[in-house]
Amino acid sequence: MSMSKISTLLDRIYESDLPSGADLEQALALENQAELDELFGFADQVREKYCGGGIFLRGIIEFSNFCDKECFYCGINKNNRKLSRYRMKEDELLKSVEYLASAHIKTVVLQSGEDQDLDPLWLKDVISQIKSRFGLAVTISVGERSAADYQLWKQAGVDRYLLKMETLDEDLYNSMHPKMSFKQRLCCLDNLRKLGYQVGTGNIIGLPGQSLKTISRDILFFKQGNFDMLGIGPFIPHQETRFSVFPGAQALLVLKTIALTRIVTKNTHLPATTALGSLDQDYRPAGLRCGANVLMPNFTPQPYRKLYQIYPGKKCIDEPVGSCNFCLESMSKENDRFIDYGQGDSLKLRKVGLNV
Ligand code: 5AD
Ligand code: FES
Repeated sequence: MSMSKISTLLDRIYESDLPSGADLEQALALENQAELDELFGFADQVREKYCGGGIFLRGIIEFSNFCDKECFYCGINKNNRKLSRYRMKEDELLKSVEYLASAHIKTVVLQSGEDQDLDPLWLKDVISQIKSRFGLAVTISVGERSAADYQLWKQAGVDRYLLKMETLDEDLYNSMHPKMSFKQRLCCLDNLRKLGYQVGTGNIIGLPGQSLKTISRDILFFKQGNFDMLGIGPFIPHQETRFSVFPGAQALLVLKTIALTRIVTKNTHLPATTALGSLDQDYRPAGLRCGANVLMPNFTPQPYRKLYQIYPGKKCIDEPVGSCNFCLESMSKENDRFIDYGQGDSLKLRKVGLNV
């Protein structure tokens, strides 16, 4: 495609309230270096205009790897009997939070597998303690739960919730999530939004059966839902899963999706995900140059960190807890950016209910 045609295409996508799927597919198919430079440069400008040069940090603590689900791509799925399972105790978890707070990080993400045995009152107590002792912004990412649980945690002071849709193709979703339902997951997202959470979702790029058309549909959903945060990461095959035989994602396609999501959603927080740092090389800096504005250092203590193996080759598995700060500082400086040690709340205007 000629440079002027690409420019027109990107302008059209940027300016439209709801871009056409065909335009997005065309942009996702851009291949040669000059075309990619145009796309990534455009996304970088949109990021600068709507989010500025700051990079927000979200410290993640993976407090349990128990999971009741059987997602075909995920290494901690319940059928992986080779994996030792753990649940961190409250005092261990709070110690990790203390450490994270002492590294000047203002957001903690508490993540676990989808574990129905997780006691909502236990988590509520943890949240209350984090709020009263450290005053951090808290994001919860523990999957599909009842609206009553979501409400309980919200009342305890939680700010944000992360629930990735993984793909917005209903049939594809249902085909790789046994005993789960696409509609049910959407309903959870809607409940979270109605309760006043800042809501994050996202997808996995490179899932078997996915196409550029599916990804363009994901991007349209991201736009329509007016999300506060969107996590976009590559599929990385894990040995102990049904999808072990499939090839992993192409980093480039992930970067193109991040770039287009930035152009379309303008000011949504977009992390350069840990999975993006865990491919043949660390593509997080490239993510920061094409639209991303968030990084997620890992504060899960050993020996648990090694056991939260949702995919192999995960970044920072052996680094001492806390060394990430230094590394991320230099990563941002190398890209003429800076770490913003603020809380990094949503840049969106608040709305109730999903627009989908
Ligand atoms: N490759 C990449 N990402 C994965 N996730 C789970 N399994 C994989 C995999 N094999 C992602 C999902 C989930 C998040 C915690 O990790 O998007 O929401
Ligand atoms: Fe963890 Fe670099 S982000 S060591």
